[in-house]
This record gives sequence, structure tokens and C-alpha cells, in this order.
Amino acid sequence: MPYTNFDNIEINREWAFENVRSTEQWTHGYHRYPAKFLPNVVKKIIEDYAPDCKVIADLFAGCGTTLVEAKAHGKKSIGTDINPVAQLITRVKTTPIEPEALQHDYNTLVDQFDNFAKDDFIDVQKHERLDYWFFPSEKAKIAFLFVAITNMETDGATKEFFYVCVSHILKNCSRWLQSSTKPQIDPEKTIPDPFDEFKRHCLKMLKSNRAFYEELEGKGNLNVPCDILLEDARHTSIQSGSVDVIITSPPYVTSYEYADIHQLTGYWMEYIEDMHDFRKQFIGTSYSGNTSMEVRGSKLGQHIVNELAEKSKHIACDVAQYFNDMQEVSKEMVRILAENGKACIVIGNTKIKEVHIKSAEVFYDFLKDAGMHEIDVIKRSIPHKLMPTLRDSVTGKFSKLDNPNCKKVYPNEYVIIMRK
Ligand SMILES: C[S@@+](CC[C@H](N)C(=O)[O-])C[C@H]1O[C@@H](n2cnc3c(N)ncnc32)[C@H](O)[C@@H]1O
Repeated sequence: MPYTNFDNIEINREWAFENVRSTEQWTHGYHRYPAKFLPNVVKKIIEDYAPDCKVIADLFAGCGTTLVEAKAHGKKSIGTDINPVAQLITRVKTTPIEPEALQHDYNTLVDQFDNFAKDDFIDVQKHERLDYWFFPSEKAKIAFLFVAITNMETDGATKEFFYVCVSHILKNCSRWLQSSTKPQIDPEKTIPDPFDEFKRHCLKMLKSNRAFYEELEGKGNLNVPCDILLEDARHTSIQSGSVDVIITSPPYVTSYEYADIHQLTGYWMEYIEDMHDFRKQFIGTSYSGNTSMEVRGSKLGQHIVNELAEKSKHIACDVAQYFNDMQEVSKEMVRILAENGKACIVIGNTKIKEVHIKSAEVFYDFLKDAGMHEIDVIKRSIPHKLMPTLRDSVTGKFSKLDNPNCKKVYPNEYVIIMRK
């Protein structure tokens, strides 16, 4: 039998959303996050395929786009992610705070900036890697911010709101090469003042919080439940048959190292002790440590891995691990879905060492084998603003122009809609 193949599906322009600015609407713009959903895609899925559903889940919740949209639509939601930074951002984005009280707490916090004394914070003991990324002057101000927030006389949600603001500015205030998702020092960087950055971003967040709060209040959706769990998508604690619709987007294979990308927040918030162990839990990592090229339950997946093995055994093992993990996630999705529940997967293919990695087709086969039925497979083009267009033609990783192997790609992705 020929392999499943989506190559001939036409691009559907209704799913392009080229000129929309929804990435900044409500709380969506609180924090940068690689490969986050375009909120319009989630909105369209809910409105076209799940207008009457009650519970929505996202097993790769990331920075919580699905959960924010679910709440805006008055749907109960549950998310899982293995990344504690994702969990923090999602909790804050889905918990808008009464705007006047928040403004008051903000004023109290920034008033304290006048009390900053560098020498009190210069020797702060956090993870040693922070001294690699931060100069002492910025590190002292950021330490002051964390201490000031922790000591505030306010509720936990408000403190977390301010932690997310600090988390967002860490990259700007460190030596990290600004345009890069790879951990790389920029020796030329002019580093801005952390207090100014905090105030600038926090004022934006205060406005967004108010807009989302008023939206939810107006629709009576302020108390719609929303739960974000720090769990592995392969084995969650979500009750069997309890979810009407899954809207999710799995990680790309070996393209982003989420553990590395979020290390600044990870070290400041003391989420990471051992980077080596932390990385391994992420699906799609190139640090999987897997040494087998066997793909269970997908002939197409095995074919892709065999082709890759001729170019790089190491990459072939990582991709085999990725496909095996995806099979486990497919089974988990079917387990948590109610009868007739829907799975809506947004997933892109990639190319590594000239081998087409057809993750969309492989995932589709896994879902079918696990008992799901196709409703629609939609092909959409990804706006260039949301996805780096430059790739390293050898590794498939996102790249920069000065890389000799750099190639421009205009990526598409698929929206796979299936019913249990
Ligand atoms: C493409 S991103 C999802 C982005 C999300 N749709 C959004 O709008 O922010 C993939 C996510 O999968 C998460 N992830 C990777 N391995 C995981 C695992 N084993 N279990 C749960 N989540 C995992 C990553 O931390 C990342 O947040």
C-alpha cells in the first residue's frame, strides 16, 4: 500500500490570516514563545468544528494560546506541558486580574525602584550559569525585582503576573543574541536597563490584562475553569473520556530546544537544576540519547528513518524517538477523548539533510490506527512573521543568513481534524 501523502492538498487561503494582528490581542502578547499558535487558527477551529463543545484540551499547551481562546469562548479547558516556564506563562495569561487592583500593585512595586542599592544584590546566589548570561549590574537589578515581587503584600496571581513580565525581559537584559533562539552571546550588544524594560513591558501587559478582563467580564466568562498541568503529554492525569475537543500543535522534530531557549527563566525561577536531565523530557529534542532506529507502528516513519540513517545515524535515532513518542501521544489523545470527540492537530513537515520528514502524515496514521476517523485535512501557509524562514539545509534547524548552509523556506502546515 502507498504511504499516506498530503503533498497534493491545495493550500486553503481561508486559513492564511495574513494581515491579522491577533498575536497581540488580549493576553496573547505577554511573552515570546517559539512556534506559538496564531490565535485565529484556534478561534476558527473552535467556531467551525466545536461551537457546542464543553471541554477543550491542549497536551502541548506552550504559552497557552488554546486555553486563552477557550476561555474567551466560555469553554472549560485543560492543558499540559513539560516546561514549567510554559506552565507559568499559561497560568498568568488565563488569569486576568481586576485592573484597578493590579494598577495599584504595579505603582507600589515600581515606587520601590528608588530604594535599589546595587551592593545589596550583587552577590545573589542563583545558578552559576546566570553569571555567564548577565553582567553584574543587570543581574543585581533583576535580583532586586525578584525579591521585591516575592515580598509584595498581594495574592499569588498578581505576583506571577509580575514574574512573567520579568521573565519576558530577561533575554533583552542579558548578553543573549537578541534575534536568535539559540543560546548565543552577542559581544556587541547594548543592554537596556532592567527597570526601564520592566516598566515598558508591564505597562503593555496592564493594558492587555484590562482588555481581556473586560472581554471575559462582559461575556460572563471570568470564572470559566482553566487548568494547566506540568505533565508529560505521553501520560497525563486527565480523566479518560473527559475531553470533547483537543486542539494542539506538537513540537517540530529537532528544530527548537525548548529547554535551552527558556533557560534564563528556568535558572532565575529555579526550575532547572540539571540541564542534561531537563532537556531529555522534551519530545523532539536532539538530546534524546536514543540509540535505536526502530519506529514502532508506522511504515512511513520507519522508511523516513531508514533514509536518514544513510546520512546521519544520530539524527535518525532522534527522529525514530520522536515518531515513537508521537505514537504514545496519539494513544493518550484517544484515551482522554469522549466518544465522538475531536482531535485537531496543527503540524508542519520539515526537511533534514534533504530527507522529507513527514510528521503530519505519520501522526495522521497513528491517530487512524488508534481508532480516529478523518473529518478534514487542511493545508495552510504560515505567515513569515511567525516562523523563521531560514533553515540550515544540513540539520533542518532554524538558521541565520551568515550560515553557509542557510536556505530560505516558505513553510506550510496542516490542520488535521479527526473524530473518535
Ligand atoms: C509547538 S509548541 C506549542 C505551542 C503552543 N501551541 C502555543 O501556542 O504556545 C510545543 C510545546 O510542546 C512542549 N513539549 C515538549 N515535550 C513535551 C512533553 N513530553 N510533554 C508535554 N509537552 C511537551 C514544549 O515545551 C512546547 O511548549
